[in-house]
Amino acid sequence: MIDLTDRRKDYTQNGLEESGLTKTPFELFDQWLRIALESNLPEPYAMTLATATPDGAASARIVLLRQADQRGLVFFTNYLSRKGREICENPRGSLLFYWPELERQVRIEGLIARITPSESDDYHRLRPPNSRIGAAASEQSEILPNRKALEDRVAELFAKFPNGEIPRPEHWGGYRLCPEYFEFWQGRTSRLHDRLFYQLGPGGIWETGRLAP
Ligand SMILES: Cc1cc2nc3c(=O)[nH]c(=O)nc-3n(C[C@H](O)[C@H](O)[C@H](O)COP(=O)(O)O)c2cc1C
Repeated sequence: MIDLTDRRKDYTQNGLEESGLTKTPFELFDQWLRIALESNLPEPYAMTLATATPDGAASARIVLLRQADQRGLVFFTNYLSRKGREICENPRGSLLFYWPELERQVRIEGLIARITPSESDDYHRLRPPNSRIGAAASEQSEILPNRKALEDRVAELFAKFPNGEIPRPEHWGGYRLCPEYFEFWQGRTSRLHDRLFYQLGPGGIWETGRLAP
């Protein structure tokens, strides 16, 4: 048993006031992500994606943010994976960024939908050959008999497509989470953290508020 009851850290770097809120959450997210990128954090664009089955059994994993704008946040994956199956049956999802060096967390919730095949093609073309072959070789989330089975499949595909110019498999592509809710968390001293949220209201207006820490 590991006992962590005496491990604690005070958060002192910054605060988040209502005066710091932007018109929509996208501008504030953009500001925070840029700061995270400029701070040379390890993969600040890695985010936890939570999905759930229709009866509410939740699952979470890290995926990489690849594009973000007012339409939403895009990541790429296998549509037949566990997350892909869950999104198909229940499109509600949640994304989470945690940037410990900045004492910041961002929570985003909304509906997830596939991007268009041509958008997925555009990104697939930009990927290095190894990544393209890897994506095509892996039946993500399926049980493998052993590692060799995967490596054999990769070798087979490299023999067929020596420069990695493999077409995008139909079951691999992007999803966009279209946000309806954002929460920006800034750690403060004595656990009195700042939590400011945006909720998308009727007519597309973002309402804001503060939550107790
Ligand atoms: C840093 C990091 C980045 C990852 N990026 C992706 C990604 O962009 N897309 C993806 O499908 N899996 C990515 N993964 C792997 C996923 O966390 C997960 O293992 C995989 O997608 C299968 O998840 P599922 O079985 O829940 O569908 C990443 C893992 C880590 C640790």
